[in-house]
Amino acid sequence: FVLMTLLAIESSCDETSASVLTDGQVLSNIIATQLIHQQYGGVVPELASRAHQQHIVRVVEEALTVANVTKSELSAVAFTRGPGLLGALLVGASFAKALALGLNIPLIEVNHMQAHVLAHFIQDNPNQAVPQKAVPPFPFLCLTVSGGHTQLVRVDGPLAMHVIGQTQDDAVGEAFDKSAKLLGLPYPGGPLIDKHARQGNPLAFRFPMTDMPGLDFSFSGIKTAIMYFLRDHTRQNPTFVADHLDDICASIQHTLIQMLLTKLERAAQETGIRHVAIAGGVSANSGLRQRLTELADQQGWTVYIPDFAYCTDNAAMIAMAGYFKYQHHDFVGQDVSPLPRMEL
Ligand code: KG4
Ligand code: ZN
Repeated sequence: FVLMTLLAIESSCDETSASVLTDGQVLSNIIATQLIHQQYGGVVPELASRAHQQHIVRVVEEALTVANVTKSELSAVAFTRGPGLLGALLVGASFAKALALGLNIPLIEVNHMQAHVLAHFIQDNPNQAVPQKAVPPFPFLCLTVSGGHTQLVRVDGPLAMHVIGQTQDDAVGEAFDKSAKLLGLPYPGGPLIDKHARQGNPLAFRFPMTDMPGLDFSFSGIKTAIMYFLRDHTRQNPTFVADHLDDICASIQHTLIQMLLTKLERAAQETGIRHVAIAGGVSANSGLRQRLTELADQQGWTVYIPDFAYCTDNAAMIAMAGYFKYQHHDFVGQDVSPLPRMEL
């Protein structure tokens, strides 16, 4: 068993985050969300890079303070190498490299999508006396759903993952956010659709579902369908959206979840794997969590649903991935640079 303390940095999109982990236990997980993007209705890459640069020192220092760890006690530094926005990744990568160089400790690169899956292995600080969650046994299936990705992953080991299905166009988080934008809701709209959907009727309106062959997804068709649906109804009744917001949100959410779960069910059938997990920002969606739980009861699956804190982007999951890599001495040199399109 490796005794070690690791600092991890996440900066792939619009969250600047740092986390300290000791022997597999997360001691801190500080997240600075960039609110600047709200006024633009989406993440503006250049503004994201600048905000990361402004926040990263404070975020790292807070992560160390909360964990009660000094820089000299660190055994390694992990960072998100990709996928993500180049300028945003550069800030985290450069910071991590400088810190590792200055402290003369190993540097660990982490794949952001692998980290989302490994969030299931995070054990919180035992001092908080929270019950420890069951971790999924290998192999398991993970549906990773975020703002940039929608993937079905077969997980054979902490660092052995295979994409068995993925979106051919938009990510499901994008479908949530773009639908929300059409409804006049601020960015990021996913959580707001979720909130309104709770009060609405999921069967009030119907949208066509695109079924791709096999285990792949497509969400661009539904986005267009929603656009025309809103245009046509608003023509007849200018206050249509305001009058039916909860029902519209519930119906959109219902359709998107159905598209996800259809593929998950197919993947479980094809692989025979009965341990099923979800991960990524959209796994915070209350409708998805509930319907997955129901489907699992019906199918006899065991499901693994991450704590809310570890669904959306955070450095604790980067730390967890870094911890597994540390055990294999899987380090990188100072010549490493970000990979915006890094594959799983
Ligand atoms: O994993 P994440 O934080 O960042 C990426 O790696 O993309 O995911 C962000 C995505 C956004 O599209 C956001 O709208 C969505 O996750 N999201 C949700 C919910 N919470 C976050 N979508 C639906 N319902 C939610 N409750
Ligand atoms: Zn993410």
